[in-house]
Amino acid sequence: MEFGVWTKGLATLGVDCLVLGVFEEAELGAAGAPVDAACGGRLKKLLQRGDFAGRAGETLLVSDLAGLGATHVLLIGMGSRKQLQRRSWRKAWAAAVAALLRTRIGSCAVALDRPDARQLDDYYFGRAIAEGAGAGLYRVNDLKTAKKPAPPALKKVLAGPVRRAAAAERGFSHGAAIAAAATVQRDLANLPANVCTPTFLAEQARALGKRHAGLRVRVLDEAAIRREKMGCLLAVSQGSHEPPRFIVLEYSGAKKAQAPVVLVGKGVTFDTGGISLKDPPGMDEMKFDMSGAAAVIAALTLVAQLRLPLHVVGLVAAVENMPGGRAVKPGDIATSASGQTVEILNTDAEGRLILADALHYARRFHPAAVIDIATLTGACVVALGHHHAGVMGSDEGLVRELVEAGRRADDRCWQLPLTEEYAEQLKSNFADFANVGGRDGGAITAATFLAKFTQGMKWAHLDIAGTAYQSGAAKGSTGRPTPLLADFLLQRAAR
Ligand code: BES
Ligand code: MN
Ligand code: ZN
Repeated sequence: MEFGVWTKGLATLGVDCLVLGVFEEAELGAAGAPVDAACGGRLKKLLQRGDFAGRAGETLLVSDLAGLGATHVLLIGMGSRKQLQRRSWRKAWAAAVAALLRTRIGSCAVALDRPDARQLDDYYFGRAIAEGAGAGLYRVNDLKTAKKPAPPALKKVLAGPVRRAAAAERGFSHGAAIAAAATVQRDLANLPANVCTPTFLAEQARALGKRHAGLRVRVLDEAAIRREKMGCLLAVSQGSHEPPRFIVLEYSGAKKAQAPVVLVGKGVTFDTGGISLKDPPGMDEMKFDMSGAAAVIAALTLVAQLRLPLHVVGLVAAVENMPGGRAVKPGDIATSASGQTVEILNTDAEGRLILADALHYARRFHPAAVIDIATLTGACVVALGHHHAGVMGSDEGLVRELVEAGRRADDRCWQLPLTEEYAEQLKSNFADFANVGGRDGGAITAATFLAKFTQGMKWAHLDIAGTAYQSGAAKGSTGRPTPLLADFLLQRAAR
């Protein structure tokens, strides 16, 4: 897809389609007036007749209006003018993309009224255009045997008006990279667990390393993991016939030696719960339990593609959590790589076990910041639903940075408290602590467990159990929190 800005003369522009906003007050958006004048007031007439109300998400394609360079005009409902904000603008653009992709339109000029520049400046506008196009173009690479539909016709998007074209252009390029990274995440997460195994994840990471200069990938197999004494990770993996993998992705783009940002991903390629078996309804969704790992791989491809001047390390702990004759049992005690012992009271609290060893591994990089990303707890979904990811951490500055990045990227997270009282719930009579702390405050006690392995590091934890995928008709990976992580990394690169 090619992006650019249009400057003036929408009416005479030689594109296939003009995309114009209409407010609920049946009022044409700002860019619409000269277009309407050029076609003899036909657009206003259409609105006066009440044929298009401008409700949010509504679209209407009008063709062959005399006096215009473009063959088509696509009207997009923007909702009420008073309620126009960044998120409603993104929805309008998403509706426009979906409508364009139903046609054979190959090029368009977009002129949807923007909220004020404080909400969406030229740079973020460019980013939102490219991200929205990328999200709209995404198709699940399904295994359906029916013939695949024809490839999309849309190849070129001109957007405007903008004041600083260079800022918008930079936004297009970043937005396209974010969309590409989100596609990497979604493709991996959408795959069934019989395809996307720990071994497969490692192969995919290796392939990405070959494709991007500056991205180095190393994979620890089971023997190497054992040498690292990752007893908690191995306890989870021992019930499965699929061998575990520990994947290290390292991108060094910084000018001089720089303490890295370390991203740690939960890569449970399928979570049955183990001996503490989950209920059957919805268990298929536990193929998404490697979404954190996919987000880490996606983030590393983004920094490599944009060649950001950063040092970033990605760590992926990839295992399958299965019941079986060799599976870990409730009450078993594992010794983590850090030396601390853990009583595994519930084998379904496996994510924190593999993250414990991965977070400990992060230490050797003397990181500037460590962020783990995990579909960690159902309790986080109960607490926050599907709109905000949960964020907790040992470093308030880092947590705030992530909250801000999520807000700017419209991929938000919300802080939950992480104070010492919660550690009470993890007490064990037989080991240093237990891996579960009861139902109450489950998202927080999970993070409290992780904190035992991040002492002395600047660390934050993103619980994406409620945001990484959706159920229902549009079932599948959402690509979150790739936009959040991208914004965080882009901000770090700029400072
Ligand atoms: N992968 C699940 C968490 C999860 C639940 C993700 C729902 C997405 C949707 C995790 O491994 C898990 O099973 N957590 C348990 C922890 C409990 C045993 C303390 C949970 O949330 O029930
Ligand atoms: Mn589990
Ligand atoms: Zn899990």
